[in-house]
Amino acid sequence: MAQPETSLMSRLVSLCKRRGFVYPASEIYGGLNGFWDYGPLGTQLKNNLRDAWWRDMVECPPLGPDGNPLSIVGLDTSIIQHPQAWMASGHVAGFADLMVDCRESKGRYRADHILCLEVFYEKAGQRKSLGMLSVLSGEDAADILAKKAKKMVQKAGGGDVVPFDLATATPLTSLSPAEQSKVIGPDAENAGTLTEPRAFNLMFHTYSGVFQTEDSKVYLRPETAQGIFLQYKNVLDTSRVRPPFGIAQIGKSFRNEVTPRNFIFRSREFEQMEMEFFVPPEDGMMWHEFWVQERMRWWEAQGVSKANLYEHKIEASELSHYSKATSDLEYRYPFTAPGFGELEGVAYRTDYDLKQHQEHSRTNLEYIDQEANRRYVPHVIEPAAGLTRGVLVLLCESYQYDESRASPEWLKIKPSLAPIKVGIFPLVNKDGMPEIAEKLYKDLRKQHICQYDAKQSIGKRYARMDEAGTPFCVTVDGDTLKDQTVTIRNRDTAQQERVALSQVQTYLNEKLAG
Ligand code: GAP
Repeated sequence: MAQPETSLMSRLVSLCKRRGFVYPASEIYGGLNGFWDYGPLGTQLKNNLRDAWWRDMVECPPLGPDGNPLSIVGLDTSIIQHPQAWMASGHVAGFADLMVDCRESKGRYRADHILCLEVFYEKAGQRKSLGMLSVLSGEDAADILAKKAKKMVQKAGGGDVVPFDLATATPLTSLSPAEQSKVIGPDAENAGTLTEPRAFNLMFHTYSGVFQTEDSKVYLRPETAQGIFLQYKNVLDTSRVRPPFGIAQIGKSFRNEVTPRNFIFRSREFEQMEMEFFVPPEDGMMWHEFWVQERMRWWEAQGVSKANLYEHKIEASELSHYSKATSDLEYRYPFTAPGFGELEGVAYRTDYDLKQHQEHSRTNLEYIDQEANRRYVPHVIEPAAGLTRGVLVLLCESYQYDESRASPEWLKIKPSLAPIKVGIFPLVNKDGMPEIAEKLYKDLRKQHICQYDAKQSIGKRYARMDEAGTPFCVTVDGDTLKDQTVTIRNRDTAQQERVALSQVQTYLNEKLAG
């Protein structure tokens, strides 16, 4: 099937805007970089994904290796916590990106995103260097660098750029300070205009109370996880849980990302779905493997194809100092294809966080196992997923393009996650059809999210529902008046079947379950 010229991502972003999935935040003021608002369909889709996670984590958690249901409880902690918590967690000192500023272009860049390569050109049989050029990593990096080199050659009096391989480029962060000082910045023409890399903390801060002093400085949480560690003891003391058990939380997190990009993939305000699973130290590796498999299976159950998911095991040499094992569950986004980008991290965080909070708060966070007559600080396995990033995955995965359909662009979202489950239409707005359709709508809306639509041609109404990812449309037509049947159109096949009016509810209940 021929695909339009524009990239899949730009088509998806414009569909999301046009159909009310995602809008740029503060759009009437020109937008705010890194912030997005969810429209009526996007909010419902996000809520459905959130609810599926909550149900499968907290209300009906998976069975453990012994065949018994796991014990996981829910929590909802404050976005703003005691500032000491972020000292203990390491976020105040270490949650930073290395940044460089360019004195010439006034741009600010993440140091690890700058790729450097010496580029040459030839003129009259002689090879000369254009210097150490740099470019920001990304899909078009090689093209951008080639254009820049061509321009520089023209300025130098003409010649041919010697073909180069961007795969041989070196990240700025791997160069020595002397080498860094010779680099021509990504948007600069002269060498040596980049500053030395400086740490830039990603936490947003504000002040709590009337006085805005260092003492009243507080942070917007950059992850939901720490709230769980801070309440772990209260949960242990007030619920009937004991290791192995989990505490789950869903909520907003904030990171002052230096380069928010790729739509809602990396934003400055986003939502996370995190679960901390507390286990006896000796069982840590076993539970880590369990959760990697379980989370992979879960994303597949949400309609994400196996082929687009990838378990990226982090090399031992690249693990955080406190982690014994981490796997990133990655998805093949249109902007990373054929490669993959992170969707969820499953980290074995050992007892690092609890021990840090134990030390900084001087509160004993040990678990006392009376049966085994031992006490220990539990180890933690953390499956940490992005909810808003998950919404992006669902949108990318479900986007279809087929020119033969009334709406060439349509969304094949798993029915149970679709924002609208059923469209209900009278074929024409007369002859008793609206009355039957309205009655059906009033009955069905008690169980499923339905939309009644009587405007424009039936083809246009199907097209609207396809774009919204609505799996079923029920149409009341002339035959309904005679034989009490309706047509039900299936979004995926675009086929219609006749179903008795009295059976519509049962039919939909079956198709929309799980
Ligand atoms: N508690 C561990 C933690 O926060 P993380 O890998 O930094 O780990 C977990 O974040 C997940 O949160 C990521 O896999 C991603 O899905 C999501 N996430 C992180 N930063 C994000 C951002 N700036 N925008 C959208 N989602 C983000």
